[in-house]
Amino acid sequence: MQIRKNTPNHKPVRKAVIPVAGLGTRLLPITKSVPKELLPVVDVPAIQVVVEECVNAGIEEVIFITGRGKGGIEDHFDFNFELEKILEDRGKFEELSRVRSISKLIRTIAIRQKRPLGLGHAVLCARDVIEDEPFMVVLPDDLIGSEPSVTKQLIEVYEKYGQGVVSLMPVPEEEVSRYGIVTGENWAPSLHRVRTIVEKPEPGISPSNLAVIGRYLLPSHIFEYLEELEPDESGEIQLTDGLSRLAKERALVGYEFTGRRHDIGDKLGFLTANISYALGREDLGPKVLAYLRKKVAEADGDG
Ligand code: G1P
Repeated sequence: MQIRKNTPNHKPVRKAVIPVAGLGTRLLPITKSVPKELLPVVDVPAIQVVVEECVNAGIEEVIFITGRGKGGIEDHFDFNFELEKILEDRGKFEELSRVRSISKLIRTIAIRQKRPLGLGHAVLCARDVIEDEPFMVVLPDDLIGSEPSVTKQLIEVYEKYGQGVVSLMPVPEEEVSRYGIVTGENWAPSLHRVRTIVEKPEPGISPSNLAVIGRYLLPSHIFEYLEELEPDESGEIQLTDGLSRLAKERALVGYEFTGRRHDIGDKLGFLTANISYALGREDLGPKVLAYLRKKVAEADGDG
């Protein structure tokens, strides 16, 4: 199938699937009892940052694929009458309006992924809710600061070409084994026709250094492929294998997005995300910058 501009009318992208069942083992011990998605980016839970990205890109409904101990994520986007009453009684109207606005952000649906069968299986759990519409998959470990957001960038590419789109980022050779890595042809600036995707190849035998990052815009055909997949040797159904079939049998666009990505499922990425978001805040940015300058000067002095 050719990838052409202005393909026939396609349905709008209204839904986003956000898998949140992961255990967060890279961030233990905090993730023993706290869902990693509720860890803060300054004073906002990480999941709220990605949900706001969806809302600002025009998404109307998010589908959380949840697991054991993740109920707090749904609670965060629900009304909390007791808290609201107390804030109201105490005249804390600014806090009240902030808390209420989160509950009004977006319609949420939660689907339980009862067994840890991988990302492909998590996406497949949303099939009945998505029906035959194109949809976003947003991995909340990937926080990406950019204007417009990566979700918005992907929707714009989809509106132009009418095909599934995955976000891509070049990574250093020694990091390829952390990602799905694509091969394909670069046919326009930032745009690739994806041919294959290999999940977490070893450095040295990796087909390229272009990694898939956690924003995907997928047609509902992906479910047909995911449904037919067998688990890999780790017992997981890989989204990557479904995407490879989509690329082969239909078409898949790879889009090199602009923006700064933090992997907040990782200790260092969690810290850099917090520093970066704090620096961007009017109330905190100048103070955090002054602190960092002082620490750098001290470290240089020590050297
Ligand atoms: C998942 C995908 C991988 C992708 C990555 C992006 O891996 O399986 O293809 O490159 O997300 O963050 P995970 O990070 O869940 O191991």
